Amino acid sequence: MAKRKLQRFAEIGTFKNVVQLDEGKPYKGKWKQDFFKNENPLILELACGKGEYSVNLGKKYPGKNFVGIDYKGNRIWVGAKMALDEGIENVGFLRIQIQNILDYFEKEEVDEIWITFPDPQPQSPLERKRLTNPTFLEKYKTILKSGGKMHLKTDNDGFYEYTLEKIAEGNHAIEEQTTDVYKTHPADEILSIKTHYERIYLQKGKNINYVRFRFC
Ligand SMILES: C[S@@+](CC[C@H](N)C(=O)[O-])C[C@H]1O[C@@H](n2cnc3c(N)ncnc32)[C@H](O)[C@@H]1O
Repeated sequence: MAKRKLQRFAEIGTFKNVVQLDEGKPYKGKWKQDFFKNENPLILELACGKGEYSVNLGKKYPGKNFVGIDYKGNRIWVGAKMALDEGIENVGFLRIQIQNILDYFEKEEVDEIWITFPDPQPQSPLERKRLTNPTFLEKYKTILKSGGKMHLKTDNDGFYEYTLEKIAEGNHAIEEQTTDVYKTHPADEILSIKTHYERIYLQKGKNINYVRFRFC
């Protein structure tokens, strides 16, 4: 591992807003009370990378709690450091494999979930790793409150189509969808939050897909 990655990896162990692996299990069912010390709604950002959605939504909605989830510590470091430096107390980070999310969140504990630019895993043997395959969707459904919203933003048209197929197969309810979010929602402050990967895709002229849905 490069020196900077190793330094960041060591440093997040000292950050009060980062929880890693087994340290997160005692918070299951108690994120609001024990981690955030309030009763505000709980929103997750999955595949958060540097956590741009968590940090920016956290700033915009001080009355809500946000947890960015990723397994790469050197990426989480960026968002966590920003939240610490700016004194943003309603944003935390959890370093885990999303496959294990049911070990960290109780049934119906979560109010909303964002998935931001997940790895598309286009090869069919890797469907098991796609964060919107039916196995993952079932887990999200379990931890979401009834009626809780799912948001997906992705540059990858194939991944987007795949997700729409899985939403349809599950008879879930699409509330909003677009294959070009900056064309259809140019003034939307939330949808205009840009992640690290999103900026790279936008520079290449890529359209950005977005879908919001609820589980039925
Ligand atoms: C393409 S990056 C996107 C990062 C960020 N959302 C952005 O848009 O800049 C995908 C991220 O998903 C994370 N990831 C992929 N599969 C994961 C899994 N099963 N559990 C946790 N994190 C995962 C990777 O570590 C990576 O940071």
